Amino acid sequence: MLYGVKLVELASEVPTKTVSNFDLEKILDTNDQWITDRTGIKERRICEKEDSLYLAVESSRKALKNNDPKEIDLIIVATSTPEYLYPSTACRLQGEIGADNAVCFDLSAACTGFIFALVNACQFLQLGTFKKALIVGIDIHSRFINWADRSTSILFGDGAGAILLEACPLEENQFLSHSLACYGKAWTDLTIKTTYSNFPNADIQKNVEVVQMNGKKIYQFAVQKVPEFILSSLNKANIKLEEVDYFICHQANQRILDSVADKLKVDKNKFPSNMAKYGNTSAASIPLIWEEKKNLINQKNNIISLSGFGAGLTIGSIVWKIN
Ligand code: UT7
Repeated sequence: MLYGVKLVELASEVPTKTVSNFDLEKILDTNDQWITDRTGIKERRICEKEDSLYLAVESSRKALKNNDPKEIDLIIVATSTPEYLYPSTACRLQGEIGADNAVCFDLSAACTGFIFALVNACQFLQLGTFKKALIVGIDIHSRFINWADRSTSILFGDGAGAILLEACPLEENQFLSHSLACYGKAWTDLTIKTTYSNFPNADIQKNVEVVQMNGKKIYQFAVQKVPEFILSSLNKANIKLEEVDYFICHQANQRILDSVADKLKVDKNKFPSNMAKYGNTSAASIPLIWEEKKNLINQKNNIISLSGFGAGLTIGSIVWKIN
C-alpha cells in the first residue's frame, strides 16, 4: 500500500414520489401493520419520471460540489437495475457531468454493490493508479417488481448515494480493512432474469424481469453472515468490537439490524436506520444512511463498520476511520 484513502464528500438523491404502506394496501392483500412489524418499512420512494442517469447525475453533482469533474480519475456505479445492459451507467454519468478523464464501469453485486465498489476504488487509490474516485450506488427496483407479489413489492424503494474519495498520505488513511465473500451455490435465492431472444429470434422470452426471492433464506443468510463479516473485518484491522462507534448496515429489514445487534451484543442505537422512510434501496442504502446521519457518524476518530449483503449471494464488511 503506497497511499491512504480519505472520504471527501457524501451525497444522495431519491425520487420525489412517496408510496406508503397505506398506498400498497389499496393494490395488494397486505396492511401497514404487517409491513411495519415484519420489516420496519413505512414508505418508500418510487421513480416516475426519474431514471438511473438522473439519480446518478444529481447525487454526483452534490458529491462534486467543491471539485472539478475533470479531476475524477475513476467512476464506479454499483447497480443491478440499469436501464441499459450497455453502455454502463458509469459511462453515461461521465458524459453528463463532464468527468472526461475518468475510467468508468458498472459493478453488479446487488445490495452488496456499494461495499464491493468501495473496496475496488480504495485499492486503485492505495496503489496510486488513480487519485480521485467517485462511487455511486443506484438501484431502481420499482421497475423490476411484480407489483402483485406482496412478498417482494413491499420491500424495495428507489434511490442513489454517492461518495467522493481521494488518495492521501498513508498516515491519514481511513480505509482500514475489508472482508468480502460470495456464495454462488445459493444464486437462485434472489434473482432478476433479463428478457432475451433465442436465435433465430422466433422465441422472445418476456415478462421475466422481476425480483424472485426466497425471503427466509436471505434473512437467515444476513443474520448469520453479517456478524461474522463484521468481526472478521475488525479482526483484520486489529480493532475491538467495542471500539466501533457506528455500524452502517444495508437497510433491508429492521429485524435483521436488530438481530445482528443482538448477536454481537451491541447497543441497537449504534445501528442507524432509515428504512422506515426509504425501504430497501439496494446498492444505494449504505451511502443513503451514511449521508443522512453524517453529522452524527463522521466525527473525528470515529470507527465505522460498513456491511452489505444480497443477491449472488454476496456479503462484505469494511472498517473505516474518520480523521
Ligand atoms: O437486500 C436483500 C433483499 N432481501 C431481503 O432482505 C429479504 C430478507 N427477508 C425478509 O425480510 C423477510 O423474510 C420478509 C419480510 C420478506 C418476509 O417476512 P417473514 O417473517 O419471513 O414472513 P413469511 O414469508 O414467513 O410470511 C409469513 C406470513 C405468510 O402467511 P402464512 O403462510 O403464515 O399464512 C405470508 O403469506 O405472512 C404472509 N405475508 C404477508 N402478509 C401480509 C407475506 N408477505 C405479506 C405481506 N402482507 N406483504
